[in-house]
Amino acid sequence: MSTAPSSPPSASSATPGAEAAAQAPAAAAQAVTPAAQAPAAAVLVRRAEVADVPRIKSLIDHYAGEILLEKTLVNLYESLTEFWVAEVDGTVVGCGALHVLWEDLAELRTLATDPVFRGRGIGRTLSAALIDEARRMGVARLFVLTFEVMFFAALGFRRIGELDLNAEALAELRSSYDRGVAEFLELPYVKPNTLGNTRMLKTL
Ligand SMILES: CC(C)(COP(=O)(O)OP(=O)(O)OC[C@H]1O[C@@H](n2cnc3c(N)ncnc32)[C@H](O)[C@@H]1OP(=O)(O)O)[C@@H](O)C(=O)NCCC(=O)NCCS
Repeated sequence: MSTAPSSPPSASSATPGAEAAAQAPAAAAQAVTPAAQAPAAAVLVRRAEVADVPRIKSLIDHYAGEILLEKTLVNLYESLTEFWVAEVDGTVVGCGALHVLWEDLAELRTLATDPVFRGRGIGRTLSAALIDEARRMGVARLFVLTFEVMFFAALGFRRIGELDLNAEALAELRSSYDRGVAEFLELPYVKPNTLGNTRMLKTL
């Protein structure tokens, strides 16, 4: 897949991962256009802003339940600083978040691409930005709980069984209110949600 953007990203936005700009349809307003037939355009990855929340929610809602954890609007506003979005021609077509769990561990979570734009590098471009951000923050290991094993394997994630965490970290994580952390720990009350998911880890 080409990595050359056909137009520059807007100057006002942060662009980590922009070098990984990918092919995507030219006009998001034409989201009904089958992705395979759409012309290439630049993907801009930037940090999320409050105005993005309704769109982020609709992206997540598309997969929420069996594939992604559901997020309420208040969840999204509260965790907005963790979120990044991908834009094509000014429309948000993907989102993803980075949730730090411990001194050496973060989770890449809530990665979602508009179904019409899937397979055009949006997810990979967003993931590259989130991985860069994790490195910048000094995180040593990045975790993901996913059905998309091939996609994450291509990004350098490897399947794992148990993650080695010391007793202090485990005890602290068990006291977290975050539902994603409960899934990470496979606590009994979230067990139905984690069935079939694969635990994967990337060393940064
Ligand atoms: C996972 C997801 C974000 C990928 O988004 P995407 O924008 O379609 O991914 P990309 O186009 O960047 O894919 C990059 C590469 O991975 C491949 N790929 C994408 N999804 C894949 C899949 N399910 N199986 C195998 N390969 C896949 C693409 O073909 C592409 O390969 P290429 O570089 O050889 O062309 C998207 O499928 C999605 O929203 N899934 C539902 C939510 C989810 O499961 N999120 C992950 C857990 S947080």
